[in-house]
Amino acid sequence: MFVRHLTLMDFRSYESADLEFTDGVSTFVGLNGQGKTNIVEAIGYLASLSSHRVAQDAPLVRAGAEQAIVRGAVVRDGREQQVELEINPGKANRARLGKSPVTRPRDVLGALRTVLFAPEDLALVKGDPSERRRFLDDLLVARQPRWAGARGDYDKILKQRNALLKTARTAPDRAAALATLPVWDSHLASVGANLIYARLRLLRDLQPYLRLAYDEVSAGQSDAQITYKSSLYDELADQLAAGEVPEVAELEAGFAKTFEQQHRAEVERGQTLVGPHRDEMVLRLGALPAKGYASHGESWSFALGLRIAAFQLLRHDLGTDPVLVLDDVFAELDAGRRRRLALMVADCEQVLITAAVDDDVPESLTGQQFTVTMGEVRRA
Ligand SMILES: Nc1ncnc2c1ncn2[C@@H]1O[C@H](COP(=O)(O)OP(=O)(O)OP(=O)(O)O)[C@@H](O)[C@H]1O
Ligand SMILES: [Mg+2]
Repeated sequence: MFVRHLTLMDFRSYESADLEFTDGVSTFVGLNGQGKTNIVEAIGYLASLSSHRVAQDAPLVRAGAEQAIVRGAVVRDGREQQVELEINPGKANRARLGKSPVTRPRDVLGALRTVLFAPEDLALVKGDPSERRRFLDDLLVARQPRWAGARGDYDKILKQRNALLKTARTAPDRAAALATLPVWDSHLASVGANLIYARLRLLRDLQPYLRLAYDEVSAGQSDAQITYKSSLYDELADQLAAGEVPEVAELEAGFAKTFEQQHRAEVERGQTLVGPHRDEMVLRLGALPAKGYASHGESWSFALGLRIAAFQLLRHDLGTDPVLVLDDVFAELDAGRRRRLALMVADCEQVLITAAVDDDVPESLTGQQFTVTMGEVRRA
């Protein structure tokens, strides 16, 4: 698929912008701070309802404006569909598909699929576990948008269970305060087991692509892999770390058993200590964990390898290419990595590339070029 048209109103630095793209490669070149990333951020937002740079919506709306609008015309198999988002910080966002409003913004998920690589992705390797959880869960949703619902449900249940545990900690009659805990235990176990199951299957499917992508980017044979480090009880966690994917029912039973073991600690800390929100993805290069061991260049290649692997997996699953966005990636790569990456992405249906210096982008990838100067985007 590809984005043929993009309209921005009061998005980031853009008061209004109307951009036409073709399939193939488009490059956005301009000095720092001119608005290149803002454009690809808008496209990423249209696909995932979240920004790769900020957790809140407020910074996405132009300073002084009330709301931002992002509208894209997406072409898939020759058919065009319009997707529109109205970003209203502090209020409910709204969305349209074609001409019709949808009930919830997340109903537009799937209309546009993107894989976006940006300098922020270094945090996938070097940052907190939450970064890697988000990578996996975002990919889950990109692959099958219905997981957005399960993710939302899980967060709600987790909040309620945490609130209950926190109240119980200081309640005069602890047993009475914990009377409804078993209900939340079973909700959390049921949704949590499904999420973990989906993550494990996703990891299993992603691994082969990751190994290839890392080796292709780095021209090495470093055996890049991901292992799942679970918060479920030890024996089950060991199975998951070994790459086994048990049935959902077994995972659900695993929750019950782990809750028993952790009951006292959970009440003492007033926090849920079991579940997908406490699980970790450990990235490894050969025998060593990437975090804390990999060099800067290796970390960069690993992060890029994860995104390329995600792209390949989605391409394989969807039967169409997601839009590939490479934000500021070439400046960080040595000549060999640049050349190899250029070869890898040459056959993608649409690739959007930003760069401060156009010499950094391999010549074979220049494609349709735009210059970006103070929020003004022109065909070069
Ligand atoms: N909500 C906002 N309202 C107004 N301006 C904003 C808003 N958010 C960001 N900007 C401005 O947008 C500019 C940054 O744009 P962007 O990140 O797209 O730059 P860039 O061209 O990618 O630069 P670099 O080459 O450094 O990555 C900054 O000047 C910033 O002040
Ligand atoms: Mg930028």
